[in-house]
Amino acid sequence: MGAAKVNGVEIEWREAGKGEPIVFVHGFPFHSAMWGEQLNALPKGWRGIAPDLRGFGASEPGTDPIYTMELFAQDLHALLDRLSIERAVLCGLSMGGYVLFEFWRLFPKRVRALVLADTRAGPDSADAKKARESLAKRVEKEGNTPVVDGMLPKVLNSTTRYGKPEVVQVIKSMMQETSADTMARALRGMAERPDSEPLLRTINVPCLVVVGSEDAITGRGQAEFLARGIRGSSLEIVDDVGHVPPLEKPADFNKVLGVFLSRLSSAPG
Ligand code: MLT
Repeated sequence: MGAAKVNGVEIEWREAGKGEPIVFVHGFPFHSAMWGEQLNALPKGWRGIAPDLRGFGASEPGTDPIYTMELFAQDLHALLDRLSIERAVLCGLSMGGYVLFEFWRLFPKRVRALVLADTRAGPDSADAKKARESLAKRVEKEGNTPVVDGMLPKVLNSTTRYGKPEVVQVIKSMMQETSADTMARALRGMAERPDSEPLLRTINVPCLVVVGSEDAITGRGQAEFLARGIRGSSLEIVDDVGHVPPLEKPADFNKVLGVFLSRLSSAPG
């Protein structure tokens, strides 16, 4: 793990490989361990960096009461500065994708290409915002169990849930390791996120959209919407997985990521 004080908090990250940078941004309520299989199998010529967003994994929580997507994007920007990385490929899953939309809004010049996995551009509906607030209040009172118990059945499809106990365990452990306080701050931050749909047509870097065929949280329809809205993007469906293809079927996810990266390597950068 690497560690440094960036944007006022101690951020830790996993790192592998040497070469062109790709930064992996985890979803909620996971941490950088979700990208272990990508860091282990990075194509030659690539340097993978997977930070724990503030409050998650081994990174410090800081004092901001709400983790807006903008705050996470600013942390990532400060981390790129700290690592002297001018431009990187950014790969985010779900909440990680929300962070990348903010990053694109604020720092487009630092983006070499985007990988948007199991995410969506639209904001929360009024009902979704209310549900996030009541969940935030519950975890503040009861601890992180309501999120773990509520999300676990939804994030993985039945093939993973019943056939891959080791993946279920990794997902469950990451959720259990996330504090109730971090969950509440991030739930409120996600509820506040702006509508990024108008941003899609401004994306003019190479973009790969990936989704699990049975993602019950940010499903195929959302991914198709992204792919239609981002000029020149490509859409890949990972068959027979839920919301977390990088963990549920790492070899399949790595294959589509590898093809995308090899096209980038042969294009002027
Ligand atoms: C995630 O996986 O990051 C979350 O499911 C995103 C969300 O709750 O909107």
